[in-house]
Amino acid sequence: MHMRTKKWARPELDACPFYVNGGEENRGRWRSRFSSPDRPLHLELGCGKGVSTARMIADNPEINYIACDMSPDVLGTARRNLVSVCGENVSNAMLLRTDICFICRVFGPEDQAERIYIHFCNPWTEHPKHAKRRLTHPRQLMQYRAFLRPGGEIWFKTDDDTLFEDSRVYLDLCGFEPVYLTYDLHRSGFQPNYVSEHEAKFSALGMPIRFGIFRMKAEAPDFDPTRYRLTPGIRSDTLERLDRQFREKDPEGWRMKAEGSGAE
Ligand SMILES: C[S@@+](CC[C@H](N)C(=O)[O-])C[C@H]1O[C@@H](n2cnc3c(N)ncnc32)[C@H](O)[C@@H]1O
Repeated sequence: MHMRTKKWARPELDACPFYVNGGEENRGRWRSRFSSPDRPLHLELGCGKGVSTARMIADNPEINYIACDMSPDVLGTARRNLVSVCGENVSNAMLLRTDICFICRVFGPEDQAERIYIHFCNPWTEHPKHAKRRLTHPRQLMQYRAFLRPGGEIWFKTDDDTLFEDSRVYLDLCGFEPVYLTYDLHRSGFQPNYVSEHEAKFSALGMPIRFGIFRMKAEAPDFDPTRYRLTPGIRSDTLERLDRQFREKDPEGWRMKAEGSGAE
C-alpha cells in the first residue's frame, strides 16, 4: 500500500495510550496490558487503516485485540478510525507498529492468542523470490504457531487467486487444517464479515473474495521454513488432495469455486 507521509500521524500515535511502537518488551506479557487479561486475544496482521478493525473491535467488547502494521502513516489513520467508532478510551484494543516478518521477537508462547486475522496481505506474486515476504509464507506461519493456542485459528481473505492457492499449500504444510473455505465470501452468506478497505475496493470491481478459516493442529511439522520453496509439483499435488477433501466436505462451496475458476 503506498501512502503519503502524514505529518500528524506520529505525534498522535505517540500520545495515544493504546499505541505501542516495537513491542519486544511486552513479549509474553501482552494479556496483562489489557484491563481484562483473561479475555480471548485476537491479532490482526497488516491492519492498514483499520476500517474493518474499528467496527470489529466495537462489536466485540469481550475480546482483546492487537492490530499490527509496520507503517505509522496507516496506523495514524487506524487510530483515528478506532477513536471515531469506539471512543478515546477504548479498553479492548491496542495498535502495534512492528515488522511482522520478525513477529517471534514480539509475541511468545505465553501470549496464547486464539485467533489471527490476515486480510489482503501484499500478494508478492511478481517474482518467486519475493514469496517469502508474504504474511502467509511458512516463514511466518511457523512463527505464528509459537504463540497461537492449541486449536487457534487463522482467518485469511484475499482477492488474489495465486496467493490464496499458494497459501492453502503453505497452511497445510505448516499444520493448519481448513475448517471453512469459500471462493466467494460475499455470496457465501458467511457472518460476521467486517469489510476492509481493500475488500471494498476489490469487490466494487466485481472481484470475488477468497476466504478461509484454518485451525492449528497439535502436531508441529518438522522442517526448516527459511529454506522452503514452493515447487510446481508440490503445489499441484497438495491442491489436488485439498480440493478432493473440500469437494467431499462442502459440495455447494466446491460448486462456487468451480463456477468461478472453471474447475471440474
Ligand atoms: C494491502 S494492505 C491491506 C490493509 C487491510 N488489511 C485491508 O484489507 O484493507 C497490507 C498492509 O500490510 C502492511 N504490511 C505489509 N507487510 C508488513 C509487515 N512485514 N509487517 C507489518 N505490516 C505489514 C502494510 O503496511 C499494509 O498496511
